Amino acid sequence: MASVPSLASTVQQRLAEGLSAALPEAGSADPLLRRSDRADFQANGILALAKQLKGNPRELATKVVESIPANDVLKEIEVSGPGFLNITVSDAAIVETLAARAADARLGVPLNEAAGTTVIDYAQPNVAKEMHVGHLRSAVIGAAMVEILEFTGETVVRRHHIGDWGTQFGMLIQYLIEHPHELDHKDEGAEVSGEEAMSNLNRLYKASRALFDADEEFKTRARARVVDLQAGDEETLALWQRFVDESKIYFYSVFEKLDMDIRDPDIVGESGYNDMLQETCRILEESGVAVRSEGALCVFFDDFKGPDGNPVPLIVQKSDGGFGYAATDLSAIRDRVQNLKATTLLYVVDARQSLHFKMVFETARRAGWLNDEVKAVQLAFGTVLGKDGKPFKTREGETVRLVDLLDEAIDRASAVVREKAQDLTEEEITERGAQVGIGAVKYADLSTSAARDYKFDLDQMVSLNGDTSVYLQYAYARIQSILRKAGDAKPAAHPELELAPSERALGLHVDGFGEVIAETAAEYAPHKLAAYLYQLASLYTTFYSECPVLKADTPEQVENRLFLCDLTARTLHQGMALLGIRTPERL
Ligand code: ARG
Repeated sequence: MASVPSLASTVQQRLAEGLSAALPEAGSADPLLRRSDRADFQANGILALAKQLKGNPRELATKVVESIPANDVLKEIEVSGPGFLNITVSDAAIVETLAARAADARLGVPLNEAAGTTVIDYAQPNVAKEMHVGHLRSAVIGAAMVEILEFTGETVVRRHHIGDWGTQFGMLIQYLIEHPHELDHKDEGAEVSGEEAMSNLNRLYKASRALFDADEEFKTRARARVVDLQAGDEETLALWQRFVDESKIYFYSVFEKLDMDIRDPDIVGESGYNDMLQETCRILEESGVAVRSEGALCVFFDDFKGPDGNPVPLIVQKSDGGFGYAATDLSAIRDRVQNLKATTLLYVVDARQSLHFKMVFETARRAGWLNDEVKAVQLAFGTVLGKDGKPFKTREGETVRLVDLLDEAIDRASAVVREKAQDLTEEEITERGAQVGIGAVKYADLSTSAARDYKFDLDQMVSLNGDTSVYLQYAYARIQSILRKAGDAKPAAHPELELAPSERALGLHVDGFGEVIAETAAEYAPHKLAAYLYQLASLYTTFYSECPVLKADTPEQVENRLFLCDLTARTLHQGMALLGIRTPERL
């Protein structure tokens, strides 16, 4: 593993050295470097500095340029406008830097020196309930953050905080006791499909709900069953476990369709913290963080208001002694900080739960569980909307089943693949259809900033043009096809060659991969990586249309262009893999 400094960081450093040599009184001023259309980079930092030193910016800029010794990275530095620097790096420096990246399995991307342990709470569906698009977002964004953080060297612990506890289980379990065969499978001994598991649960849920609403005596028995469950009665717990197991069959089938690797030990649902709840309440009450109010244990805040503008307390324990969502989340924080040794707690959860998390985090801070060494962040995501811009519902007004959406995406994608398929077998079309369809759904989710709502528009998602995963997958597959056709010609870097403008643009962009990764990880913003990859594919398309690869003028140029193609493909592949999207070799 060799981390390769990007040209941007090398240039930044040379400029900073030039600045302090020319203007020692400026201290360590930031040259403020960024990519530019006029040259490769532009530095604007001298303007602010001149103001501070009460000097003429153009004169200062000229002094800085003169104090930078000649070197083989910077080809040209020119003072422009009121005192900007326009910087052009040499062609050789670009190719040499890229060659160093190509020699490294991590493409020269450095590890984060300040890496810690992040416990990430994501993909948390609810037992005995269908998964919907909200669960899709948490799963997709969370899985991408897991990969991205791990790639930067962070230790990541995954936690799927599934909804597996609560009063509704009294009703379900009681119903199952009274109708013992309702969860039995049609074909005893055969593997149960996720579909069958969910349809069993759905039927049972509906029937028990109906009975609960219509029959007072059943209601009473169901409520008594909740008490048994909470008291840990063995028979009741065993039945509860059947609901959890049945639901897991269904969850895993959806995660598999999503091409996501969810592992059983990482599923620690709400029930996993039952043993800690009493203690959590005791600590909060004894320390005065929480107080009794009308029998309930509450935490009060001055600045958190409900939708009606009135201050809302966080209820840790209800007046009847029951524990809710807050007690579980507070206990989970204690577990994650004290046992899992987290330095960051990341929650990938719907923005509509933001008030809950603000209150929970503030409570944990007051209790000392969160502090300067351990922070908690909600990566809050917006709502998925239908094409009409309203929250996504079926025509009948019901929430859309996630599986139906995924199946439709796969169907549409398969049609696109089939239409373009030249040398694919039927089996390959099916496989690629799933990779393209699921990739399309993930990419659409990841390419808009998480906080924003987005429209679920399958036509747009599987379009070959525009900012879609299909476009990126085709760019990747096209490069692979060129590499296959190259025959004996192999990718090889030739720093002695002059580069065309589109080669420089592509090369400099490839060189910026590590910076984008660092930014994406630090800001929990996968859309930044998606935007980078889209631009990478676009720059590649321009390069490809302007620069013949296999028919380039000289054998060296063929090799150098193949080298650019290959490194672009590897960068695309790595970036897409971090987003959880496949890049088939042929499409
Ligand atoms: N199961 C919840 C839901 O479906 C999400 C859980 C979020 N995580 C947490 N630690 N509260 O909305």
